[in-house]
Amino acid sequence: MKEQREIWEREYRSPNPLWKGPPPEAVLDEGRVLELGCGNGKTLTALTGRSEVVGLDHSINALRSCPAGPSLVRGDALHLPFRDGSFDAVLMHHLLQHLLADEREAAASEALRVLRPGGTLSVRTFSVRDMRFGKGTEVERHTYRRGNGVIYHYFEADELRTLLSSFVEIELREEIAETRFAKGSVRAELVGTFRR
Ligand SMILES: C[S@@+](CC[C@H](N)C(=O)[O-])C[C@H]1O[C@@H](n2cnc3c(N)ncnc32)[C@H](O)[C@@H]1O
Repeated sequence: MKEQREIWEREYRSPNPLWKGPPPEAVLDEGRVLELGCGNGKTLTALTGRSEVVGLDHSINALRSCPAGPSLVRGDALHLPFRDGSFDAVLMHHLLQHLLADEREAAASEALRVLRPGGTLSVRTFSVRDMRFGKGTEVERHTYRRGNGVIYHYFEADELRTLLSSFVEIELREEIAETRFAKGSVRAELVGTFRR
């Protein structure tokens, strides 16, 4: 959605961009790896080593902030500019939550297409138990437009399973972490590994 891309461009132009925090622990580190919606490279930084890494995002401002090393591609996760079966692993970390229902379907089907048979899909996305659930204007079920214009969707585990039902589930768990904001407020993420 062009409007969402412009909103992300504005976010990444800000001196205090929306998406920050420490990089995750080392993630998949095998073969040719594609991160969809790589943003300013927080996850990409955890992906150096044995992998040949490609980061894709639709925001040029995000890509300009990425660390040196990975190949960077400006593109749309709903229409990937890669051949069928060309990656050993695909990451969608906090991408699906920013898409509408039909876009989530398109992104999942593109991830399936570009993964080789037996390749790994790694997913992270907010769950309905996250403290931000319900904030903003509801635009679809469990999907809200926040004040800055960014869309946030919050998943139930079974909904994510249905979206990714063309893959084989290896693991799907919910990670819940207390935050410092208020007593009882939690960051809740679904973390999954699937295989093509
Ligand atoms: C919350 S950030 C996640 C950044 C990164 N994955 C990480 O874990 O640090 C979401 C990213 O998805 C990108 N994005 C959203 N919709 C996209 C689309 N249709 N195609 C490509 N990138 C998209 C945004 O520009 C943003 O950089």
